[in-house]
Parts: sequence; C-alpha cells; structure tokens
Amino acid sequence: MQKGRMMYEGKAKRVYESEREDAYVVEFKDDATAFNGQKKGSIEQKGVYNNRISTNFFHWIEAEGIATHYLDTLSDREMLVKRVRIIPVEVVTRNVVAGTLATRLGMAEGTELSRPVVEFYLKNDELGDPLINRSHALALAIATREQLDLLEATALQVNAILRRRLLEKGLLLVDFKLEFGVTQAGEILVADEISPDTCRFWDAKTKEKLDKDRFRRDLGRVEEAYQEILRRIEE
Ligand code: TMP
Repeated sequence: MQKGRMMYEGKAKRVYESEREDAYVVEFKDDATAFNGQKKGSIEQKGVYNNRISTNFFHWIEAEGIATHYLDTLSDREMLVKRVRIIPVEVVTRNVVAGTLATRLGMAEGTELSRPVVEFYLKNDELGDPLINRSHALALAIATREQLDLLEATALQVNAILRRRLLEKGLLLVDFKLEFGVTQAGEILVADEISPDTCRFWDAKTKEKLDKDRFRRDLGRVEEAYQEILRRIEE
C-alpha cells in the first residue's frame, strides 16, 4: 500500500492518503510532547511500540464488538485506518485518581474511584484542551445527545474490556483517552490510537508507572516502559 499526500501532522503521528478512497495511512512517530507541547522530546522506537500496542488493543476491543477505525497493520510504524472525521472531543475514562483529576479535586494519586469517571475535553491546542461538560458539547454542536451517550457508553465498554484483559497481564488500567471519528456513512468509530501515550498503566503489584508519565515527570526508563507494555500484552 503506497502512501499518498500527507493530510495532517500531529505531535505523535502523520496521516496520509492511501490508495483507497475510504482509508488513510497513519504513521507513528518517536516525537513526544507533554503539557500541551511545552515539553518536547523523543522516545526511541516509540512509534514502533505504539503502532503494535494500538494494533493489539484495537483487536481486543473489535473482538468484543466495538467498532474501530482499524483496518490493517502495514509496517513497523504504519497502520491503515478507515477515513473518518474526528469528533473534536477527547473522552477520558478513569478508574484510579491520577494526573489532572488529582490536582483538580485535591485527591491523592492512587485513590481507587468507586465507579469509573468519564470526562470530555475539547480538542483545542490554543486553549490547552479544556475540560467541558455535556451541556458545553451540545451548545458548541460538537455532538448530539445521542452521540454523547454513545461516546460515554463506548468508553465504559472499552474500559471494562481493557481493564479486565490488562489485569490478566499484571497491569492496572488507571485511565485512558479515546477519540472517535465519523465515517461518510455516519457510523461512529473508536479512532486515533490506544497506547502508553494515551493511557496510564501501572504494574498491578508494585504500582510502578509504565506509560508516558515516565516522560512527563522525568522518571527515566521511558523506552523500557513502552517495551514492557508490549511484551506483557503480547505474551
Ligand atoms: P490527565 O490526567 O492529564 O487529564 O490525563 C488523563 C488521561 O488522558 C491519561 O491517560 C493521559 C491521556 N491524555 C492524552 O491522551 N492526551 C492528552 O493530551 C492528555 C492531557 C492526556
């Protein structure tokens, strides 16, 4: 599959036209940013790990009936995906308090939530992706009520699947972010990526962080964490 014109370059990926009218090629880069691009760096082989890890997670959730944009894995760094319009909202699901939830609500990182929390963030780099509620999403015409219900229900289903299967691998799914896309036919799919860039994974026993927080917080052994996630999910 030949790559065509580059359609979009983001912080961690490039998206190209493909030979198929209804598909794009996504190329995963090693570049890493944090805090809305204020911190910049690179994680060796990250693109290769994230492509493989995302491929595995898309297979896991597709197998349990969740529709995703995934079509094929083309190379070490390239994935073929269905062409969609990305809904400009990041859907974050949390099982354990960490990151901005710890700061926002003054709760200790590591506190187990009594039920999963789902949050919506507006995708807007200039504003630093602010937290929004359903009423904002409706007023800004980001999605309809029914679509928001679907995003939330799908996020909770994906959470249940990933959480259970990761625990079998000795990993705790602390939180994760999903993006959704709409096809020309109007179908809503899980899109983007699901990787250590977009999830928090802790070792279930030691609570060691095995995700991008190692980069964000300068904890060292960043590549090793991505490699360890891939090793465990493929074992
Ligand atoms: P947060 O605690 O910083 O709000 O992050 C919650 C989850 O969302 C965490 O798993 C990391 C993921 N995330 C992204 O994928 N992209 C982002 O831009 C941010 C801020 C978080």
